Amino acid sequence: MQILVPVFAVLCSCPVWSTHLEPDQDTSVPEEWIDAGRVAPSDRVELTLALRQQNVDRLRELLELVSDPHSPQYGKFLSLEEVASLVRPSQLTNKVVRSWLQNHGVKDCQSVVTEDFLQCEMTAREAESLLPGSEFHRYFNGQHSLVRSTSRYSHSRGPVQAPGLCGRCAPLSIRDAGLLRGRYNLTAADVGSAENNSQAVAQFLEQFYHPTDLKEFMTLFGSGFKHMDKVAQVVGTQGGGKAGLEASLDVEYIMSTGANISTWVFTNPGRHESQEPFLQWMLLLSNMSAVPWVHTISYGDDEDSLAAAYMTRINNEFMKAGVRGISMLFASGDSGAGCRHLTKGSNVFRPSFPASSPYVTTVGGTSLKNPFKMSYEVTDYISGGGFSNIFTMPSYQVSAVTAFLKSKQALPPSTYFNTSGRAYPDIAALSDNYWVVTNRIPIPWVSGTSASTPVVGGMLSLINDQRFLKGLPSLGFLNPRLYKLLGQGLYDVTEGCHLGCLDEQVEGKGFCAAPLWDPVTGWGTPNYPALLAALLD
Ligand SMILES: *[C@@H]1O[C@H](CO)[C@@H](O)[C@H](O)[C@H]1NC(C)=O
Ligand SMILES: *[C@@H]1O[C@H](CO)[C@@H](O)[C@H](O)[C@H]1NC(C)=O
Ligand SMILES: *[C@@H]1O[C@H](CO)[C@@H](O)[C@H](O)[C@H]1NC(C)=O
Ligand SMILES: *[C@@H]1O[C@H](CO)[C@@H](O)[C@H](O)[C@H]1NC(C)=O
Ligand SMILES: *[C@@H]1O[C@H](CO)[C@@H](O)[C@H](O)[C@H]1NC(C)=O
Repeated sequence: MQILVPVFAVLCSCPVWSTHLEPDQDTSVPEEWIDAGRVAPSDRVELTLALRQQNVDRLRELLELVSDPHSPQYGKFLSLEEVASLVRPSQLTNKVVRSWLQNHGVKDCQSVVTEDFLQCEMTAREAESLLPGSEFHRYFNGQHSLVRSTSRYSHSRGPVQAPGLCGRCAPLSIRDAGLLRGRYNLTAADVGSAENNSQAVAQFLEQFYHPTDLKEFMTLFGSGFKHMDKVAQVVGTQGGGKAGLEASLDVEYIMSTGANISTWVFTNPGRHESQEPFLQWMLLLSNMSAVPWVHTISYGDDEDSLAAAYMTRINNEFMKAGVRGISMLFASGDSGAGCRHLTKGSNVFRPSFPASSPYVTTVGGTSLKNPFKMSYEVTDYISGGGFSNIFTMPSYQVSAVTAFLKSKQALPPSTYFNTSGRAYPDIAALSDNYWVVTNRIPIPWVSGTSASTPVVGGMLSLINDQRFLKGLPSLGFLNPRLYKLLGQGLYDVTEGCHLGCLDEQVEGKGFCAAPLWDPVTGWGTPNYPALLAALLD
């Protein structure tokens, strides 16, 4: 599915306002969308303004310190108020932006605790005069209507990782909560009990879960371990209508591994339907002092379809979450290494963002070697993975990735990927043949890395739980610590390759799994008791 993404993410990256298009931004209208013409000048639109933050370098340093288990500052997380005093825009930025808005008659703006976002309502006429050259049009795709500027949008694969139904699956081996818990060596005693523990899934794009589905799922599949069958808090508007497969899957599985842990759902969090919900969700986190410790999200875009300034700003938001001790987990995508057709018939792999962000933990997918029994895990060929073309390799992964690149493993031709980039995924879990209850019907064979992500997220929440019981802080941004484990506590997936370009050079193949870290399954899948032991100090 393709959708239009954030036009309304007007990035004020400098005190002096600039509204030029990022040169790398794609501005063609995705296929399924029809331009239904310019909106009336008096129609109301909402713009989200991201104001330039201060001390971003210091924020990055602090994230490294609080996430590095060898640092004396490990786990010394900041409160939202402390983050605010670090990144709050300068007086000059505020003054310039506010007088610019005032000069255009824009008065209805709301800020957040960190003061680095403004959300302003205005007429289309005002918005167009605010952003010279922009024109607001209404777009339809048959189902939804959106208002976007003609000069500012980009392609998105939306919930790229929207789970799919498997075509030729083994009928005997469908995952349910009990089977999964068994595979990852969770016992009946491995459930949450710490008072203030919490976890969340974030849903966008009209994806709703139904409380009755969750209840029925737990009745059917949740025997043998203590669990909750209700979501503790829904943030945002749950629309009416049918439940989404993705939403049902995420909630049902994070609550199966992260059993008996208070679970939140963030859903279409904006006040207006026309808003870009991913950005709305990020913004909301900067306006709430108490948010869950672990967030799992199955959402992504092609890296090459997004403006670098936009991704950099989203990275700053991930850093802000990380210094607060919050773990962000993203699905690695369901297209393997991906493929981008360049001119002259040449192809390159196509990384996806936020999976390629250096500041999140990215989760890949595995299958069972013999699907008829709990054999061992191999690569799921859809598992997203590769190397960013935008973000350089973070120091925490340099030695692991270098070891992979130097191993005897046959690599795709070097023209297909960028060895200097952030490599992903970081970790993995089973990603095929899941049972999901949606709209009261149990559906078998649901697949995708959007299944692996809540499964891993729930296990991290259980580890947080044990840490809280010992008086320790949450895990926060896991990667610096994860890469220091060198695979300890994880089941190393070493077999199989994922998808790549369907051309003569690589013949549909991307990278292949290998001992230790690899760009298909990361370090492998959690062996819960061993991982817990490795992360309990
Ligand atoms: C942030 O929270 C404050 C206080 O609850 C609220 O007034 C404000 O509207 C919120 N900001 C946004 C952008 O929603
Ligand atoms: C479930 O969690 C609650 C706290 O939310 C705790 O009091 C209770 O003991 C937990 N149940 C089990 C079986 O650990
Ligand atoms: C739980 O959270 C509440 C409110 O944030 C706080 O007052 C309380 O001390 C916390 N309890 C524990 C055990 O951390
Ligand atoms: C490779 O990645 C680096 C950043 O890691 C970037 O500067 C460079 O432009 C990328 N090369 C290509 C061909 O995209
Ligand atoms: C679970 O434990 C068994 C027995 O120790 C081990 O063989 C298996 O690999 C473990 N599972 C994972 C996912 O590591």
